[in-house]
Amino acid sequence: MLKDWIRPLLRPLPQWSTIAAAPPSTIVTATLRWHGQEADVTADHTVAALKPLVIATSVDAGEQPVLEYRDSVSGSLLGRLQLQRCGSVATDQHTIALYQVSAGEHHCLAWPQRQWHAWLQNRSMLKNRQPQHLGMEPQAVQQLMIAYLCPRPVVLVSVSVPGHRNIFPMDLIGPLQRSGLYSLALRSTNISEPVMREARKVVLSSVPAAMKATVYKLSEHHKQPPSDWAALPFPLRPSHEYAIPAVAAALHIRELQIVHSERIGSHTFFLARVSANEKLADGEQLHHTAGFHQAYRRQRHAPFVEV
Ligand SMILES: Cc1cc2nc3c(=O)[nH]c(=O)nc-3n(C[C@H](O)[C@H](O)[C@H](O)COP(=O)(O)O)c2cc1C
Repeated sequence: MLKDWIRPLLRPLPQWSTIAAAPPSTIVTATLRWHGQEADVTADHTVAALKPLVIATSVDAGEQPVLEYRDSVSGSLLGRLQLQRCGSVATDQHTIALYQVSAGEHHCLAWPQRQWHAWLQNRSMLKNRQPQHLGMEPQAVQQLMIAYLCPRPVVLVSVSVPGHRNIFPMDLIGPLQRSGLYSLALRSTNISEPVMREARKVVLSSVPAAMKATVYKLSEHHKQPPSDWAALPFPLRPSHEYAIPAVAAALHIRELQIVHSERIGSHTFFLARVSANEKLADGEQLHHTAGFHQAYRRQRHAPFVEV
């Protein structure tokens, strides 16, 4: 009996929660603050690399801004990241600021649980290093989870040129609103990375939450791209402009013209223009958020729908 009661206390919260949410998710707002100034960056910040952990935005927020995440209904502060300017990426028309995360804290759990779960999670990370974290230090993974307080939509990225085709999941993606650009952060070791740099065209299918298992399966075979589009376990449709195969059941299909790519630590950071935007259906898209965010929602009797 005592064991049943004590076991959940000794188990760390899951790092990630896969949820169903209608896009674009504005459940959490993100604000940059610096020298008495502020800018809403809910649709204007993305992760540019994991190692080091770098945030990109089209707002020039000085040298050491703070990025705050708040629940958009209650206004409660959920978490904050301390940023340090580490460079910029320039296209012919825009400059995107790059900020390395230097510290972070979340307020989703009360004080003793916050420390306790972070300790349990860090211990578990050190014991079972996950390849998707690319050898990131536990502290950086904790900071990454804070960046996921704004639930991140999952897409399937299609690449197709003569001799190479691939379709794989990504969530380090999103608009940099003020510049009109769209960014993607892809591990530089991904087999499609050189093709994307060369062909400069990709198609993003926003996947319904019900496709979670299929999406994860694609990632398992990331070293062997499909030999034939017809071999995929779901129907495809050609994208509007590029005629690249996209997910037929997608909620939204975006065709991107890549205008710039650059290595940033572990990742290649792509900047693109949206050349076609097809909204196909209303519905709930697969998203990722932090496990402690779901715990926060659960305590308030408003959990996300987990898939
Ligand atoms: C839901 C989900 C989201 C992912 N998001 C990204 C991403 O944003 N960037 C990335 O490089 N890989 C992401 N991946 C992993 C890629 O799909 C792919 O497996 C990886 O880029 C392959 O690189 P590797 O061969 O170097 O491991 C994601 C995987 C899953 C399951």
